[in-house]
Amino acid sequence: MKSTAILLAAGQGTRMKSSLPKVLHPIAGKPMIWHALRAIQQSTTEKPVVVVGHGADEVKAWLGESAQTVLQEPQLGTGHAVMQAESLLKGKNDLVVVCYSDMPLLRGETLQQLVETQEKNSGPISMLTVIADDPRGFGRVIRRDDGSVEAIVEEYVATPEQLQVKELNVGGYCFDANWLWDALHRIPKNPQKGEYYLTDTVELATRDGLSVQANVMDDLEETIGINTRAHLAEVEAAMRRRITQEHMLNGVTMMDPASTYIEVDVKIGRDTILMPNTYLHGKTEIGEANVIGPNTIIRDSKIGNRCKILASVMEGATLEDDVDMGPFARLRKGAHLGSHVRMGNFGEVKDSYLAEGVKMGHFSYVGNAQIGANTNIGAGTITCNYDGEKKHNTEIGEDVFIGSDTMLVAPLKIGDGARTGAGAVVTKNVADDTLVVGMPARAIKKLERKSKKK
Ligand code: UD1
Ligand code: CA
Repeated sequence: MKSTAILLAAGQGTRMKSSLPKVLHPIAGKPMIWHALRAIQQSTTEKPVVVVGHGADEVKAWLGESAQTVLQEPQLGTGHAVMQAESLLKGKNDLVVVCYSDMPLLRGETLQQLVETQEKNSGPISMLTVIADDPRGFGRVIRRDDGSVEAIVEEYVATPEQLQVKELNVGGYCFDANWLWDALHRIPKNPQKGEYYLTDTVELATRDGLSVQANVMDDLEETIGINTRAHLAEVEAAMRRRITQEHMLNGVTMMDPASTYIEVDVKIGRDTILMPNTYLHGKTEIGEANVIGPNTIIRDSKIGNRCKILASVMEGATLEDDVDMGPFARLRKGAHLGSHVRMGNFGEVKDSYLAEGVKMGHFSYVGNAQIGANTNIGAGTITCNYDGEKKHNTEIGEDVFIGSDTMLVAPLKIGDGARTGAGAVVTKNVADDTLVVGMPARAIKKLERKSKKK
């Protein structure tokens, strides 16, 4: 069966008290609406339609090609919102799923089951409900004596008796498309607010003797809708629990999942151990058997296997296998550490490649540099890569020993097997196997290389 989804996202979200449209507030690193779109994709066959209104331009810009959009202006209620998609969708689908975009915990599987229920339903609507003691302002599901669904009553118009009802309208529906496009025009205007409620379609169906099916959900958490920042934090925590749970089931150890913050796109190999207060953001990919944290922030980075990263920050960086990093190391964009590199405290690396076995143990800055295998970068070394106008490159060979507090004034090439004396200010290229000292550094002798590697 051909099916599409309409996601309602035109409301202002007044209670968020934000200049950012509600549906763009992030949860586990992705806008609220991304989570709703993901769930929808699992349950429908055609491209979804998002109804936008408040903050329409920002929401559309974020959506790009992932959805079609229609503008609802002014916003006259959830039924009116769905009506805006009629001209785009009428006659094109068998089923239409309608969801609110502020329920990011709703699972794709749940919507899939809802679609399956509607496929078997002789009537025009299947909907999601939940039984809960705390009604959270949700509409109440009114049933007849025979147990069949009769209507949805919004909290503020409910009678005291109806307020006692524990079955709530979650806000997920699957409609017979042809029936829906006709029924929307029959929704009465709500006398109190002058709005058209989608929930009134239920009564329209049952009054015509048509059956409305309810899938009663058992996971209350999935139904949390976000209206305030307190709800946002509640959902963030729930989403985080879901994500950490999945990684643990896949073989990742977490000493304290509650203080481990992993965004949705992050991949982690088995037997990696995450220590408390670790943040993994963006498109980060981590291999196997690493030990990460405590107190580590990693964004958009790639990490091989068996690395140790203690109390460090990295962004847009790459580590090969067996790298030992930190505490207090910082890798910026384009930093690439080869296998068995050791990078100690207070080092910063950006746009540079450190080949296998490089040691950079103590406070140094390396930018726009390539460093050959097994070279030692002494404490306090700085690649002076910026002359106030342009960045320049530093190339350091293999088996080099850069003495403590060396200033490498780029552009510069240091040959294989060379050495710099402590405090050298190197302004000219250094030949292979040469010792330079002083300020500016001058060659004082030719060296015998200890390493067998030539
Ligand atoms: C709605 C339901 C209620 C249900 C609850 C679950 C209606 C009338 N009521 O109430 O039964 O229990 O959700 O969370 O549907 N929107 C538009 N255009 C509008 C109005 C709303 O796009 O004109 C969007 C909002 O952006 C939001 C969603 O529809 O994403 C729901 O609107 P909201 O005002 O939050 O409805 P509730 O009062 O929570
Ligand atoms: Ca709501």
